[in-house]
Amino acid sequence: MAKPKTVFFCKECGCESTKWLGQCPSCKAWDSLVEAPRETAGNRQSGVRSLRSAKPVTLKEVSLETEERIGTQMSELDRVLGGGIVVGSLVLVGGDPGIGKSTLLLQMCRLVSGQGNSVLYVSGEESLRQIRMRAVRIGEFSDRLKLMAETQIPVITETVLELKPAVVIIDSIQTMVNPELDSAPGSVGQVREITSTLLRLAKEQEISVFIIGHVTKEGQVAGPRMLEHMVDTVLYFEGETSSSYRVLRAVKNRFGSTNEIGVFEMQSSGLREVENPSEHMLMGMPEGEPGSVVTVTLEGTRPILVEVQALICRTSFNLPRRTAVGTDYNRLNLLMAVMERRLGTQLSGCDAYINVAGGMRVTEPALDLGMVLAILSGYRNQPLPPRSVAFGEVGLTGEVRSVTQTRLRVREAAKLGYQTCILPQADLNAARAELPDGIDYIGVRNLSELKKLFS
Ligand code: TYD
Ligand code: MG
Repeated sequence: MAKPKTVFFCKECGCESTKWLGQCPSCKAWDSLVEAPRETAGNRQSGVRSLRSAKPVTLKEVSLETEERIGTQMSELDRVLGGGIVVGSLVLVGGDPGIGKSTLLLQMCRLVSGQGNSVLYVSGEESLRQIRMRAVRIGEFSDRLKLMAETQIPVITETVLELKPAVVIIDSIQTMVNPELDSAPGSVGQVREITSTLLRLAKEQEISVFIIGHVTKEGQVAGPRMLEHMVDTVLYFEGETSSSYRVLRAVKNRFGSTNEIGVFEMQSSGLREVENPSEHMLMGMPEGEPGSVVTVTLEGTRPILVEVQALICRTSFNLPRRTAVGTDYNRLNLLMAVMERRLGTQLSGCDAYINVAGGMRVTEPALDLGMVLAILSGYRNQPLPPRSVAFGEVGLTGEVRSVTQTRLRVREAAKLGYQTCILPQADLNAARAELPDGIDYIGVRNLSELKKLFS
């Protein structure tokens, strides 16, 4: 029997099925199966050589040498990648349109080609002239960077095989097409097909390929989820377009840690690395205002000071309003319930608006104590002691629990001139060992001990 021309597969997990199903049998997502043509014959037997290490080997024979990497000379980007670009890796850079993905990668190309590596930048979005105009703002470029305005994947593959660059940028996956498929650019079938072509190209030719993907809040037709499973590394470039700060975050990384972030600022001459994010996060912060608390959060190996703001006011509705910007809404509700029950704070009649200022999103449990204190300070309309920071996890019985990396957090707070540190009692010794004096420590075991801060 002839094979059907099309298959169905899940936008979320990529699971394949020969018929349409309402629910994906693998990831159980509803209404996620879409019809797409089978992989083209051309792709399956592409001209490139087959993988080299196809022979079985014993564990001892496997080399322990670390992967070969190319440094980008942008320390923020290197950190997120796990220490530079891994040779032969496939990296997806996602983010809202206009956030600065093309700018980031063009700047990376400039630095990588400046070190003598050959680089190919393929754009299906912009004309060569537009890229040139962007490049003029960024600076001088080496001739080792080659540009190409092209959307046909076979042409791109051929050029790559001919040029043998070290790094290839595909801007963006949504504009690329394989003419052997009938579906439109950006459709699930196209995206899947093109990604597997690029994957093969990266692995077999040892070329590092960066794919740019636009991601809308709703998740596009060509679900980014499915792409994420196919690539080695997924980076998300986030930030409010209204603010100039951008955070690059690794959400998947086969060659490094996934919770590292890189912070950038968009300027008129491209993206600038922000080596000291704490200072920027706290810029413009009010001093001695009720409802404002500084907390230390850990992003990967890096402590960052952020301000948590809480606005608490009597509600004029039956159902109080609660909003959380930059943090988890459910966690906010939970903490308010704990406060109501354990502290007797009458929050059920209050609207509560919580904001993690500076445009960062923090969901770490160590933020709990900062949130509770901000709410309490806002509710009582009394500020915390001046120049103080607070961190700690809050449990359901109102206990304040230990957090990781106390020393790193304390050191960062001291570096920025904070004098009082409110922290879990259990972490007190670790903090004292780091900085014996120069900072006042207030250890708390339970939320009921917080009232003494507002005397
Ligand atoms: P871009 O890299 O084109 O975003 P994306 O590829 O993610 O869609 O960047 C878009 C924005 O960045 C655009 O609004 C202009 C701004 N920008 C600057 O502010 N300074 C610069 O030097 C450059 C190149 C862009
Ligand atoms: Mg772009």
